[in-house]
Amino acid sequence: AKLTDVTLTSYLKTKESGELIQKALMNNDFMKHLEHGQILTIMDCMYPTTLSKGCCVIQEGDDGSTVYVLEEGMVEVTKQGKTLCTIGPGKVFGELAILYNCTRTASVTALTDIKLWAIDRQNFQTIMMRSGVIKHSQY
Ligand code: CMP
Repeated sequence: AKLTDVTLTSYLKTKESGELIQKALMNNDFMKHLEHGQILTIMDCMYPTTLSKGCCVIQEGDDGSTVYVLEEGMVEVTKQGKTLCTIGPGKVFGELAILYNCTRTASVTALTDIKLWAIDRQNFQTIMMRSGVIKHSQY
């Protein structure tokens, strides 16, 4: 779809959830340089999802299409069966495949029941590019 064809949908969230998402985005090395308006729009467009303990959220090597913020619970990041780290609430994950257009660099598994916020590639990229369009038009 063309940039102008994408309609962004916002999802209602509590003030607490909105703030957790904003902080998570601003603390992520790859997203902290986004404009504040982009952070707010990504937050607005994130939709809620839940998964049970033991579920695979991301499979290493897959084509990725979703960026997540963890709101509740814990996940484990593994690469070729080896644990890289565990991630708790208020953290972004799944951003690398979308930002770098690569396959998933690691697997992510739910260590507990988890609550996530998610945004899909097309919306994420639309938000990233729309700002570029606005900046460009100022010159
Ligand atoms: P992505 O490659 O899209 O999917 C797997 C995710 O695991 C990746 O994005 C990062 O968010 C996360 N990840 C990969 N490697 C590490 C690491 N060494 N430490 C923490 N998180 C990681």
